[in-house]
Amino acid sequence: MVSIRPCQVSDLLAMQNANLTCLPENYQMKYYLYHHLTWPQLSFVAEDEGNKLVGYVLAKIDENNPKKGHITSLAVLRSHRKLGVATKLMKQAQAALVETFDAEVVSLHVRKSNRAAFTLYHEILKFKIQEIEKEYYGDKEDAYSMTLALKPEHEMTIKDKDLKKEEKKPEPIKKAAKKAAGKKK
Ligand SMILES: CC(C)(COP(=O)(O)OP(=O)(O)OC[C@H]1O[C@@H](n2cnc3c(N)ncnc32)[C@H](O)[C@@H]1OP(=O)(O)O)[C@@H](O)C(=O)NCCC(=O)NCCS
Repeated sequence: MVSIRPCQVSDLLAMQNANLTCLPENYQMKYYLYHHLTWPQLSFVAEDEGNKLVGYVLAKIDENNPKKGHITSLAVLRSHRKLGVATKLMKQAQAALVETFDAEVVSLHVRKSNRAAFTLYHEILKFKIQEIEKEYYGDKEDAYSMTLALKPEHEMTIKDKDLKKEEKKPEPIKKAAKKAAGKKK
């Protein structure tokens, strides 16, 4: 059985390793620490019966808009996919954004080729495509910029134009730091 709980500082290394295993977008440890110290309520981990981390969601509040949340990263280990873990992680993060920060909307980026994640966001969680950001990723692949309203329309103060502001891209991990974090070639 997999359980979901808030992220603790002791999870950050396992979270970074899961990210290195699952995604081409990797971050330095200081970025995970910054997230955790700044928005401790917004990131969650999934763990198995043996307390091994099998998934995580890293979320934050947009530095330019306190009512807008952003999903920085989401991953589930291959061994635990298609069990609804990512859906649960995302729903926890969305609920925490509303409960803790009274967020009205949450945004994210996803590679155009990432069918699994796109289907999860679009079909299951009902995110809408806001725009296509050309060559958003380091390897020049385009991103869908997607948003989900967390409140009914009449309670929203955020306007459409606010949603198109570009998120600051996190600093990518250096090759040496990636090796040190244990990535196999
Ligand atoms: C994308 C990812 C997080 C999904 O995790 P997951 O725990 O397997 O997702 P869930 O079990 O909650 O899936 C929910 C729904 O998403 C869709 N989905 C998930 N994996 C899919 C796949 N491989 N192909 C198509 N749709 C998929 C399905 O609609 C699924 O519902 P279903 O199981 O009823 O068909 C996981 O595949 C992953 O970690 N991928 C690598 C990292 C990544 O791409 N992260 C997102 C970056 S934006």
